Amino acid sequence: MRRPLVVANWKMHKTVREALTYAEAFLPRAREIEGVDLALAPPFTALEPLSRALLGSPVAWAAQNVHAEPAGAFTGEVSAPMLAELGCAFAIVGHSERRRLFGESSGFVARKVAALVAAGIRPILCVGEQLEEREAGRAREVVERQLEESLPELPSGREDGLVVAYEPVWAIGTGRTATPALAAEAHGWVRAALRSRYGGAADRIRIQYGGSVKPENASALLAEPEIDGALVGGASLDPESFAAIAAAAVPQAASAGGRRPPPAGGASGQGRNQP
Ligand code: 13P
Repeated sequence: MRRPLVVANWKMHKTVREALTYAEAFLPRAREIEGVDLALAPPFTALEPLSRALLGSPVAWAAQNVHAEPAGAFTGEVSAPMLAELGCAFAIVGHSERRRLFGESSGFVARKVAALVAAGIRPILCVGEQLEEREAGRAREVVERQLEESLPELPSGREDGLVVAYEPVWAIGTGRTATPALAAEAHGWVRAALRSRYGGAADRIRIQYGGSVKPENASALLAEPEIDGALVGGASLDPESFAAIAAAAVPQAASAGGRRPPPAGGASGQGRNQP
């Protein structure tokens, strides 16, 4: 029911030249992947040239950050209307690196989400607990609080465009991935929190997993029904490795209208091509 979304967060990697070389290698692979939304999130300098290279392709692009105000005296910042003018589809906000290294509060993140929605850009809101918080048994409480404080009041009907990325901080860049069961449990917490806020609309919000996703672990993670895609850092820097992760998100039995194979025993043919 929810189309998987796989996004490459390049963080502070790749010059314009490197970004264009990547696109050249990745686009032929991306064209073979069906039933998955794909996006690349390059650094700001590469956004405009990369957006041209991706024009007319099945690959969208995302910003890694945005300011909450539409314009003003904010040296070094880029606004949502500036990104929208270039055709930006998604923007990552509330990434743990921005929260931790740049002191961004959930209140500020909420204002960014509101600015993106107003500009017609879909926010990818990152949440996730630190290792100490998980070890203290507080992971659910931390994730719920981040969601509560990082989500603004949205105009009714705009919740669907929201994407949430569950990224446990202890799994980011560490090679230590959450097990599929652990990730699915946390996605369940996120879904429950979204339901209590948005009711039935919450079931249309995609929840990505992020944290050391690699070609070797992507299939197991993405097979969980509550995991609607991946936000990939390190392993997205190589086009082959990112393409392999994207391919792992292809819905199983897409023609049967679901992510899971049809039930065995005479059900074949039923439910085909249902939306
Ligand atoms: P890694 O895939 O390098 O762990 O990074 C995850 C991440 O932070 C994506 O936003």
